[in-house]
Formats: sequence, structure tokens, C-alpha cells
Amino acid sequence: FANGELETERTLAIVKPDGVFGNYTSSIRKIILDSGFSIQREATVHLDEDSVRSFYAEHSTKSFFPNLVKYMTSGPVLIMALQKANAIADWRTLIGPTDAHKAKSTHPHSIRAMCGQDLERNCVHGSDSRESAAREISFFFTETFSEGTTLKHDEL
Ligand code: TYD
Ligand code: MG
Repeated sequence: FANGELETERTLAIVKPDGVFGNYTSSIRKIILDSGFSIQREATVHLDEDSVRSFYAEHSTKSFFPNLVKYMTSGPVLIMALQKANAIADWRTLIGPTDAHKAKSTHPHSIRAMCGQDLERNCVHGSDSRESAAREISFFFTETFSEGTTLKHDEL
């Protein structure tokens, strides 16, 4: 964009089980809307292990992977497709660093500082790139952003 305008993007946000159990969904939704995002699609789902393994496939060889799968299947999550100019980077900035414990001192106003606990239980997810955002949104929602919230996966 030659005039310096930022391009409209979509990103995938997830409020993880500790955020849902801790009743943070309404304050997170308020932060999202106050920050200029529109929530295009949302669904509350209880992910099964295969879904989490597939969603986090890039981390499948990491030592933390089994715990990540256990954690992400421990309760319902709120999945949202967010849209605004520069949505991907701006949502990552709002949520703060991966380690929620460190975020409490280095990024005290971030969402992870507010509702996360540590490196594993960090309350929220955000896509890290255009490619990830496209993959992650289509993982949960039909690509044609038509009326209603249609989940692709029967098990969700
Ligand atoms: P990652 O993609 O590195 O972080 P982010 O969510 O900030 O993009 O990791 C995915 C998730 O895996 C992360 O949110 C929490 C979990 N995780 C751990 O449990 N231990 C770790 O050491 C790392 C790096 C991640
Ligand atoms: Mg990541």
C-alpha cells in the first residue's frame, strides 16, 4: 500500500481452557472490540486430542507437545476469527510474550499477563503470520465467511 495504509487482515484468536475457566472471555472480548477488531466468527468448542495435534503440528516433535495436547483438551476453548488492518501483528502485540509468567513483569498490560499463568498455560493464542492465519482460520471455519458459524470438523 503505497499510501502507507495497513492492509486488512484476519487472524485466529483462541481463549484457551484457563481463560474460559477463569471467566476471562468477556474482558478479552471487550479488549478485542476496544482495540478496533471485528469478530467475524466465533465458536466455543471442546477440542479432542487429534484436533490439537493437527492444529499444533509444527510443535509435534517438541518435548512440551504432550503437555500442550493435555492442556488444550482440558476444557472448552473460545475460537474467534478477528479482522482489522494489521490484525496479525496487532493481536500478537496485545496478547504479549509466550511466557505469561515473564509477561507479568515485562508486558504487564498484555492479555497473557492478565490471565495466563506460565509458559504452558498462557491463556490465549494468536496466529504468527499470514500463512498461519489462513491455515488456522480454515482449520475451524469454512473459508467462505458466509452467514452463520459453520464448523468444518464434525467432532467440534
Ligand atoms: P509457540 O508457537 O512457540 O508460542 P505462541 O503461542 O506464543 O505462538 O508455542 C505454542 C504453544 O505451546 C504456546 O502458546 C504454549 C506452548 N509451549 C509450551 O508449553 N512450552 C514451551 O516451551 C513453548 C515454546 C510453548
Ligand atoms: Mg505459535
